[in-house]
Parts: sequence; structure tokens; C-alpha cells
Amino acid sequence: MKLASAEVASVAGLVMDLCGILLDESKGYLIESRLAPIAQHHGLGSYTELVQKARVGYDQQLLKQIVDAITTNETLFFRDESPFEALRHKAIPELIDAKSKTAFPRRLRIWSAACSTGQEPYSIAMTLHELIPDIHAWDISIHATDICAAAIEQASHGVYSAFEVERGMKPQYLDRYLARHNSNWKVRDEVRALVAFQNLNLMSPLTGLGPFDVVFCRNVAIYFTPEGRRSVFQKIAQTMTRDGYLFVGCAESLADLGPQYTPHHHCRGMYYRPNMPPLGDPARANNASAPLARR
Ligand SMILES: C[S@@+](CC[C@H](N)C(=O)[O-])C[C@H]1O[C@@H](n2cnc3c(N)ncnc32)[C@H](O)[C@@H]1O
Repeated sequence: MKLASAEVASVAGLVMDLCGILLDESKGYLIESRLAPIAQHHGLGSYTELVQKARVGYDQQLLKQIVDAITTNETLFFRDESPFEALRHKAIPELIDAKSKTAFPRRLRIWSAACSTGQEPYSIAMTLHELIPDIHAWDISIHATDICAAAIEQASHGVYSAFEVERGMKPQYLDRYLARHNSNWKVRDEVRALVAFQNLNLMSPLTGLGPFDVVFCRNVAIYFTPEGRRSVFQKIAQTMTRDGYLFVGCAESLADLGPQYTPHHHCRGMYYRPNMPPLGDPARANNASAPLARR
């Protein structure tokens, strides 16, 4: 089904409203290849009709299909490696040390925001298993969220093809953390038990989430407008503990967010720490963007 140039703006407007993803004229091929099958499935003759039916809002299934089709779920185990090295050699050891002086010395809360089909949160879980021998005695949870319901569905099963496993999985982890499952591989229960999946739109208010010690929000904000991207990272700062660690994609930078985050380097990797009053501190509500001296 051919996309008329006059239709691009209305499709792009719908996608922006549904998930904050920016589409412009150059993405006409993407709209055609991903949304034409949905329009045809619903017996609609044009993209204008598709937008109209979606805008009415009654057909939740249609909205879900559009979001699932338009999102790009590219991911792999241990993607870019350096964040997992920094997690293993820097963030977790420092957190364990800092936590030892608190009321909950064995509690860790981690968020994989935009986790796609689950390789990222499972890579985090495997890293923790490697690092913490008595992990069963810890209270650890990895909250893994994505707007794409189909991706969350696959992630929660933890089943991957041989091809998906070959992309990034460390050979020494393969038999330890995955088991053969027909012609596929399945993440073992002790790794899956650390991760809870949820369908979540980062454009929505993130109230009630956190506080998280570590957040991975990688390779998703690149699809948003500059304002959408800034707003998401501002909201994420509010879900983090003051001593938390934020990992963004290797090609991403938070330099334009000003003093809200401080960048830190670890070997080839980089992470950010929020300069925010902790959750529950009235100063956070009064002046959410005010930087706070680190303890
Ligand atoms: C390229 S994948 C990145 C996956 C993983 N973080 C990584 O770096 O390998 C981007 C993911 O962002 C998700 N996404 C896009 N817009 C979103 C939104 N508004 N809220 C939550 N997730 C979103 C997509 O569904 C997709 O799974």
C-alpha cells in the first residue's frame, strides 16, 4: 500500500502520540513496510483510514499492533560489553560496599528500561550471578520494561534461537546460564527469577517506580525528539537513588542535561550519576532540577 506524502504527517503524529518515536519524510519506507500489513489486516484502504481508526481509540489491539510494528527491537546479549564491565568491576562492588552500611545491606534494585526481548536484563542477571556467589541470600530484583508487548512476551519466556545466543553470549556462560530447549536455548530459572518484566511506555509518568540503584536505558532515546529524550532522562533521575548508576547507549551523551547528571568513565565505558536529592526528600519535589553536592 503506497503512502501518500500528505499522509506522512498524520501517521508520524499518531506514532509520536503513542510512543514518542520521531518519524519524518525519510521514514516513508519504514511506515509502508511495517504498517501496511496492519492496515490490510483490518480491511483499511489507506494510512489515513488507519490513523482515523486508531485515533478513535476503541481498538486497543490495533494500537498495540501499531506500537509493536513501529518499534525497533534490535538487541543482543552483553551489547557493547563495556557497560557490563563497568557494572561488574565498578558499580556493583561500590554499591555492595555502600549498602553494607545501610539498613538493607543485601538489597539491589535495577531497572532495564526499554529492555526489548530481554537480552539486556538477562545479561545483567548473569553478571550479578558471576559476581555474587551467595546471590540466593540477596534481595535483588531487575525490573525490565518495554513498550513493545510482543518483545516483553518473548523476554518473559527467556527462549532464544541459536542465532540470538551466538550474538554476544559469552561462551563460558552458555551452559552455566542457559539450557538447550528443543532447537533453541532457554535462560535457566535461577537467572530468570531475578527479572520481572512489564509493559511500560517511557513517555508516561514514571511515578511509583524505584528507587533504583542501577538503570540501563540504552539505545531507545535515540528515537525520540530532543525534548522527549531530555524529559525521559529527567524522569529517570527521579527514580534513582542518589548514589545510583545510569548506563546509556555507547553513542549517547547526557551532556545537554546540564548539572542533572555527572559523567564518569570506567575503562572504555561510561556511566552517569544523578545529582538529585534522594526520593522522598521534599527538596526533590520543590526543585527537581537543582543539583545536590554528593555525599
Ligand atoms: C533498539 S532497542 C534497545 C534494547 C536494549 N536497551 C539494548 O540496548 O540492546 C529499543 C527498544 O526501545 C523500545 N521503545 C521504543 N519506544 C519506547 C517507549 N516510548 N517506551 C518504552 N520503550 C520504548 C522498543 O520497543 C525497543 O525494544
